[in-house]
Order: sequence, then structure tokens, then C-alpha cells
Amino acid sequence: MSDIQFTIDGKECTAGKGQTIVDAARENGVYIPTLCNYQGMKPAGTCRMCTVKVGGRTMAACTTPAAPGMVVESNTPEIEDMRKAIVEMLFVEGNHMCPTCEKSGNCELQALGYRYTMMVPRFPYLWPVRDVDASSPKIYLDRNRCVQCLRCVRGIVTADGKHVFGLVKRGNKTIIDIDGELAAGLSEEQAKKAMDQCPVGAILRKEVGFTVPIGKRKYDTKPIGSSL
Ligand code: SF4
Ligand code: FES
Repeated sequence: MSDIQFTIDGKECTAGKGQTIVDAARENGVYIPTLCNYQGMKPAGTCRMCTVKVGGRTMAACTTPAAPGMVVESNTPEIEDMRKAIVEMLFVEGNHMCPTCEKSGNCELQALGYRYTMMVPRFPYLWPVRDVDASSPKIYLDRNRCVQCLRCVRGIVTADGKHVFGLVKRGNKTIIDIDGELAAGLSEEQAKKAMDQCPVGAILRKEVGFTVPIGKRKYDTKPIGSSL
């Protein structure tokens, strides 16, 4: 039930009790960019792409519930530049190699790069040394492209509730790891789900590629956010 009234950039919006600003915005036809957020999955608030201002304070719209009378600023030059800076940071702190990526055209980070007309990032490239894990029969894990959104950790769980992906190490050494035994038991469907839920090309299915040709993929035809 939509019993909460609030505004986003002056537009009157409604939300259900407990509904996050991001979810309510979508239902009211307002696009707020996201990356770690995935519809239907508990939000983690890790990437800050959805940054908005509420009462002059910056907040993550994916973890903040809409409240009565809330005044949300989203599409302002200052906030859009913060979001562009986040996209640039994610590009410089990994090795994304878009032209050789199977996820090109279906990648949310790449699509956000286009949305924010990212040219030369304002931050220096870090060129981190990251390894890949090709030991699982159905999945290829390329940590070069991982943005640590935790969608795989939150979303890929075995029937008895065990997490196939997890975070290991600390600080800037933190990486995504995969449980070899559990990964070996993934069904075709789960392997596809893992690839689909990864917003970038860090999780790729083995032995399947280019089922949709470049030029016909999701963001090749429509820019991210344009469906709202
Ligand atoms: S592997 Fe993909 S889904 Fe998992 S944390 Fe990295 S970017 Fe996110
Ligand atoms: S989408 Fe909200 S913090 Fe990542």
C-alpha cells in the first residue's frame, strides 16, 4: 500500500511503508542509478552509486526507506558528479578490459560509464595485480573486473543455504572467492544466474559465449535508466 508521500527533485512520489527510496523511485518513474542493488535481493549499500541528498545529507537510496514528507535531491549537477566519480573510481581500481569482455553490452558498469560520458577518469589508474579462478567446471571468475557489489555472495546460495561465493582477506586486499566444492555442484541454471546477477564481467559461464551478438545486447540498444 502506498501510504507515504515524499518528493524526488520536486516530483510528488508515493511509497509503501518500509519501501526504499530506490524502489519507490522506480515505481514512480524516477531513475536512480544503482550497481550493488538488485531487485528482490536485500540491499547491501556497498557501491554508493545511488547516492542522493536528504535534508542536505548524502545517503544511499537503496538502503534508506522513504519517509513521509522526505525531500530527496537526486538529479542535481553535484550528485551526478559524485556518481560519475564513483564510476571513475571503479574503473581505475580494477582492470576492466571492456573490449574483450563477454559481458560487454550487458555490463552495468560499462553502461554507467556511457551514461556519465566518462572519458579520462580524474583518478590515476592503479593497475592492481589480480588473479582469475578457472577451476570451477561451469564458472570462470575474473577478479580483475569485480566491483565487490556482493550480489553473488547474497544471491547464489545452495538449496541447503550455503553461500557459493564469499569475501576473503581484508581492506584493499579483499577479494571474492568461490567455494570449489559448492561451485562444482552448481546447476546450469545457477551458473547462468550467477553470471546474470554479476553486474560486470567478473563471473562468466564457461563453454557458452556470444549467444547474443555484440550490438544487440541490453545496453547496446537502450542506455541504462532509459526505460523509466
Ligand atoms: S563477482 Fe560480480 S557479483 Fe560478485 S562481488 Fe564481484 S562484481 Fe559483484
Ligand atoms: S546501489 Fe545503493 S549503495 Fe550500491
